Amino acid sequence: MANWWKESVVYQIYPRSFKDSNGDGIGDLQGIISKLDYLKALGIDVLWLSPIYDSPNDDNGYDIRNYQAIMQEFGTMADFDELLQQAHHRGIKLVLDLVVNHTSDEHVWFAESRKSKNNPYRDYYIWGDGKTDGKPPNNWGSVFSGSAWKYDDATRQYYLHMFSQKQPDLNWENPKVRNEIYNMMVWWLDKGIDGFRMDVINMISKEQSFQDGETYGGLYGNPSPYIINGPRVHEFLKEMNQRVLSKYDVMTVGETPAATTEDAQRYTGENEHELNMVFQFEHMGLEAAGGSKWTDRRFRLTDLKQVFTKWQKGLEGRGWNSLYWNNHDQPRVVSRFGNDKKYWAQSAKMLATCLHMQQGTPYIYQGEELGMTNTVFHSIDDCRDIEAINAYHEMTTQQGVSPQEMLCYINRISRDNARTPMQWDSSAFAGFSTAEPWIAVNENYKRINAAAQVEVEGSVFSYYQKLIQLRHQYPIIVYASFDLLLPESEELFVFTRTRGEQQLLTICSFAEQNVEYHLPQRFADDEKQLLIANYPCEPCTEKITLRPYEARVYLHK
Ligand code: NOJ
Repeated sequence: MANWWKESVVYQIYPRSFKDSNGDGIGDLQGIISKLDYLKALGIDVLWLSPIYDSPNDDNGYDIRNYQAIMQEFGTMADFDELLQQAHHRGIKLVLDLVVNHTSDEHVWFAESRKSKNNPYRDYYIWGDGKTDGKPPNNWGSVFSGSAWKYDDATRQYYLHMFSQKQPDLNWENPKVRNEIYNMMVWWLDKGIDGFRMDVINMISKEQSFQDGETYGGLYGNPSPYIINGPRVHEFLKEMNQRVLSKYDVMTVGETPAATTEDAQRYTGENEHELNMVFQFEHMGLEAAGGSKWTDRRFRLTDLKQVFTKWQKGLEGRGWNSLYWNNHDQPRVVSRFGNDKKYWAQSAKMLATCLHMQQGTPYIYQGEELGMTNTVFHSIDDCRDIEAINAYHEMTTQQGVSPQEMLCYINRISRDNARTPMQWDSSAFAGFSTAEPWIAVNENYKRINAAAQVEVEGSVFSYYQKLIQLRHQYPIIVYASFDLLLPESEELFVFTRTRGEQQLLTICSFAEQNVEYHLPQRFADDEKQLLIANYPCEPCTEKITLRPYEARVYLHK
């Protein structure tokens, strides 16, 4: 089936936190295999696994030591082959994470590269001389705090690491690096995997002047203009597509921070021959202040609608959207954009409706289908994520932010919120493991877990099941054009999808009180059909009163 990825729903697994089969407190591949029937019951088409490769885990597998070996804690290559076979057997496709902006500093290429300036692997990475005053080659800051350069004694040069010091950036200017990566991709594709999610793929081409970035009064310069959507990124992706991807019927999704809709048209346009879709970040950045995610700002609904509409219209017929609220880098959506207490189930379902009725390929992050919420970090010692830990230390020691304030930001926005163990049942450790997990289970697991929701009418899980079924059943949900209604409302997110004679109306309330809404003329009759709703609904014409976080979808033929 051509374009199967347009008609699919993808489920993301963070293997470390999904299911532990051998009682070491860490999720693994056999754990995933044991839950394939659960995923089949949910109805998803594609699984994306966050990295499962051999890694020293400085950034939980996003620092790869060997691209062609499985992380010991997760199992063996035989386990992987079994997982692939078992997934395919159930009609589920499997997509792997491709992390090729950087490797681990323990990768053999880097071990060689750092040995001497004339080592054959030297140019696999990006090295530079320090300034005469001993400072790094430029002022760029790393995404994980501190300078983006690390001094290496052996050759007295600095290497570039946009993320942790243990994640040196690969030098894509070097054709040998590109060949190695393409060969590795072919090796996995020949095993039968169904595609790649590409980690920060719009960062692979660096502007070669390596000039200082703007500091905006901060400690480090902003490298973004020189590393994001860099000068050769489209050339590299076209090459990758031509040499590798075009030879297989696979799907690709590029993670592209700071990409605009124009960038995305180039990455995903059908005639561009680069990627199928990208993860854009604009809706995830609405609460950021001055470029920093560490704030307690709340989003405004009008801004959220404006961003979604821009992406819906921007890629309509010119590319393809991915749709996501959650992943392993974001806090839980029901805590972020809903109300995870008083209106927990209602808001979880409303948010799901709002996303799944848009055009694009929806992604569900493990536990989202159960309405899993943010957790509580009582102190920085409860956190595991290098990003939060580094930021905590940098901001509390160098930027005058108090520890309490920083902890409050971490509770709101840190990535560890997404990484607490999957809540399978109400037994010890939420049924994730028989041992103390590597990160604490969310305290609410007795109430929020899969056992309490699967095959339970009215549960968040069964609501997600229904949303997926609808997408499979109604091509209008996949293919129709999008139009926003009520752009000024701070309470309602209403949009239509139109395909030929058919129209779909999605009404989502983000309000915590009742809101009156007049249906558009076309829907003010008895002909419309209610496809899904998160409250019981009476037949209606003209006017409806929406209850807190209510969502309804009507189809008109
Ligand atoms: C994006 C990934 O999603 C994130 O988890 C990781 O830390 C960085 N890229 C670096 O690989």
